[in-house]
Amino acid sequence: MKYPPIIKNFPRFLHGGDYNPEQWLDWKDTIWKEDMRLAKLAHINSLSVGIFSWSTLEPEEGVYRLDWLDEVMDMLAENKMVAVLATPSGARPPWMSKKYPEVLRVNAARQHNIHGGRHNHCMSSPVYREKTRAINMALAKRYKDHPALGLWHISNEFSGECHCPLCQERFRAYLKDRYKTLDALNRAWWNRFWSNTFTDWEQIESPSPLGHSTHNALKLDWRRFTTEQHRDFYLNEIAPLKEFTPDIPCTTNLMAAYTGIDYARLAEVMDVISWDSYPQWTGRDEDIEVGAKASYHHDLMRGLKRKPFVLMESCPSAQNWRPVAKLHRPGLHMLQCMQAVAHGADTVQYFQFRKGRGGSEQFHGAVVDHEGSENTRVFRDIAAVGERLEKLDGIIGTDTPAKIALVHDYQIGWALEDAKGFLQDKTNYQETVFKHYREFWKRGIPVDIIDSRQSFDKYAVLIAPMLYMLREGVVEQIKAFVKQGGTFVATYITGYVNESTLAFMDGFPGPLKDLLGVWCEEIDALFPGERNSIEWQGKTYAAFDLCELIHLKGAEALGHYGGDFYAGTPALTVNRYGAGKAYFIAARTGADFLADFYRKIIEEAGIQSAFAGALPKGVSAQVRSDGEKDYLFLLNFTNHEQMLESGETGRLALPPYNALILSKGDRA
Ligand code: GLA
Ligand code: ZN
Repeated sequence: MKYPPIIKNFPRFLHGGDYNPEQWLDWKDTIWKEDMRLAKLAHINSLSVGIFSWSTLEPEEGVYRLDWLDEVMDMLAENKMVAVLATPSGARPPWMSKKYPEVLRVNAARQHNIHGGRHNHCMSSPVYREKTRAINMALAKRYKDHPALGLWHISNEFSGECHCPLCQERFRAYLKDRYKTLDALNRAWWNRFWSNTFTDWEQIESPSPLGHSTHNALKLDWRRFTTEQHRDFYLNEIAPLKEFTPDIPCTTNLMAAYTGIDYARLAEVMDVISWDSYPQWTGRDEDIEVGAKASYHHDLMRGLKRKPFVLMESCPSAQNWRPVAKLHRPGLHMLQCMQAVAHGADTVQYFQFRKGRGGSEQFHGAVVDHEGSENTRVFRDIAAVGERLEKLDGIIGTDTPAKIALVHDYQIGWALEDAKGFLQDKTNYQETVFKHYREFWKRGIPVDIIDSRQSFDKYAVLIAPMLYMLREGVVEQIKAFVKQGGTFVATYITGYVNESTLAFMDGFPGPLKDLLGVWCEEIDALFPGERNSIEWQGKTYAAFDLCELIHLKGAEALGHYGGDFYAGTPALTVNRYGAGKAYFIAARTGADFLADFYRKIIEEAGIQSAFAGALPKGVSAQVRSDGEKDYLFLLNFTNHEQMLESGETGRLALPPYNALILSKGDRA
């Protein structure tokens, strides 16, 4: 299937990035003109403007100076470029912080921030909301019919939290709405523990190192509330935009590795997902792992809407904020851009178009360097990407035909992070989900990464590592999926608690016991370096970190523990349920076990790799499809040439850090 292009009537890849013409206002007759010449040479067709422009847009309270932006927007239109127009709330002008200190955040230790930096605003502050709304309204009214306007970019990289009195009040209101009565809250939070029973809503305070630092149920609801704060702030921002420009999609740029917001919840109100990808390439063998992680992040972001997404930012060269601001090796820029496309990006955008003369990002990679010409290696690499994207229009809107769903749930990650037990800091939810993902990445098998509350209907295999917390409706969905013939894979630490972190009372994995056919009686945590093993199909695999001691309650044991006092007890099981099967992996294992285990699962489910031949280590195959025509991406993340061969493609040589795209056997 094919989705409509993200920008209406623009069925082409956006290629461009963050542009800060206000930094060059004093040189606009020369620099702005030169920017347009260079943008064209770089095959750039879109620029994002206004991201941190508040002090230039509203130099004094209520005094809007949009004349310079008018000129920029006109200039973009004249040059046939799409404007990704940002709202400026990511950073506020100093006059505002001075006059209304409430717009600034209060941290968990209850210290009030002073002006400076970005993302330093309180999401509750009525003043900040009003000021944001007013300037967004001014922008929307002014540019509603402007031919350049293609996409709204809301704020920048929403993150963090605020603990001010206004936020405390809203937190309590959120809890009242969620629990209705204090009694219900006290029960859900198990508040007789440590004398936590609240007798007045006013007694409830957000988590703090000075107060509730270990109250896991409170912390979980605080994180949920913080997500609602961002979501609500976003809705406040887009209200005037939707009023004046209902046809222009809105997005905000996410960060895949950031876990402070439940992006699945935020995504519900976004028209399209956009995100900022900054892998740290090394030029060494580690790039295979970096590549796998970058793919995982792309898929994680695509999974939020299961549709093509916007790559809002990426770095064409050195990332100044890295401890080692390494240059991209030749080929890497093209590779990382095509990798994004392979995973569902319908745009390739950068931070930043032109390096500023000053400011902390003056040495961050850019399309145009301080030297100012098109005669740089980086510029040529970018132009080559732009040129290539112009030939790939057919890919726009194509889907990722995944038959495997991998559950990643932000709220489960939070609940596990705050749970005291297991391995504490090394319970590693995110990393564990990635390790399961990596097995499919190696094999060129597309995966959708989805929240536990999405529908599983279209998949053959559903994998949910460490499904510790069972959110409402999830059990029913998983059971229905397996009943209809699906294959479900669960692991240790599954089905321990409900949505408010109360443990299930009739044995783990709680309400999934009958589906999995096991009872998990205890879980053993191993010291670093300590090993147990799993014996399966005549082979011995290392088991480490966490080993669950389980009993069969209907399931069949496939593998057993090799050591310790639970040697010989089941470690890998399968249970038939309806027309499907539910597997249970009781311990944390290495890639050797996961590789053999998933080979079996893939074979049983009849799932094919995107590439029909063997994939050498470090080469990834991805696929996008419109249902009839497939686009196969072969990506070499190694610093040396790789040879590939399949019946379909014949013999292929992939140069170091190279991306090849094949459609029905033709090179694109
Ligand atoms: C983030 C921000 C950008 C810029 C880049 C630098 O992604 O959104 O404004 O600071 O990082 O890499
Ligand atoms: Zn606040």
